Amino acid sequence: MTIFFLKSTLSLLMLLSAVYGMYAMYVVFGQIPDTDRAAAQKRRHRVAGYVYVVLFLAVSYLCVAFAMAARTEPSPRAAIHILLALAIVALLMIKVMFLRRFRQFYEQAKVIGTAIGILSFVLVGISAGYYLAVSRVGQDRTMDRSAVYALRGPFLAVKEIGGPDRGAIRTDSRSIARGRFLFVSRCAACHDPLSTRTVVGPGLQGLFKKPKLPVSGHPATAESIRFQLKQPLGRMPSFAYLSHDEAEDLIAYLNTL
Ligand code: HEC
Repeated sequence: MTIFFLKSTLSLLMLLSAVYGMYAMYVVFGQIPDTDRAAAQKRRHRVAGYVYVVLFLAVSYLCVAFAMAARTEPSPRAAIHILLALAIVALLMIKVMFLRRFRQFYEQAKVIGTAIGILSFVLVGISAGYYLAVSRVGQDRTMDRSAVYALRGPFLAVKEIGGPDRGAIRTDSRSIARGRFLFVSRCAACHDPLSTRTVVGPGLQGLFKKPKLPVSGHPATAESIRFQLKQPLGRMPSFAYLSHDEAEDLIAYLNTL
């Protein structure tokens, strides 16, 4: 069970509670007044509302923990997702707190409740729906690595990438080959490995052959690179989600430049 899959499942349950809650209320509004039945439906509506809020909080917690662990700017999709979630929070507060006090706006609750339901569908559609589609319903695990990192320690600030073999640089050809592959896919857009010319970030040729790293002036050691991947300087995105092995393989490759 990965965190994305868990989030998707919780989100879909949240949608179910939204639909059920709306349905219960529509029954109340739609049928000939029958106070007993209406009261029962209102109770169901309220229970569905509580379930919705609990699931919403659980998913939000996982999202915030993930954002804090990844420490990168949200993608446009994630930004819309966050905005929608905040809009839902605002609408829920209006609906629950205001309308309870000011009964004259009771009619508006229908509109607000429906708006919450629709926004919930869009919210879950652009995240859980997207995730389930591109991962073939959670089968493709490769996109989950960052998420696993988030689950390991929500709200963690910095964790060492290096494990027991900190300091030592791998020199076997398989690690180097894997590191080159990672470099091409993750780093090459911004760093030229064959020169010291700046593309977006500095060229990394001879990185470990000089005493200092090009920008920060930190000592050119594996430890500094591990740190740079976790807490990058300036405009470089964080690679805190790389696994221990991936980071070490990447360093093995950088050592050959
Ligand atoms: C989106 C562009 C971008 C990507 C992708 C990127 N970097 Fe960087 N990197 C930078 C920038 C920009 C700097 C210089 C920091 C600054 O000036 O703000 C930098 C600096 C560095 C430095 C020098 C740090 C120092 O202390 O002087 C190293 C080493 C480095 N990057 C390695 C990597 C590795 C390894 C990857 C792939 C896992 C990577 N970078 C991916 C943009 C990027």
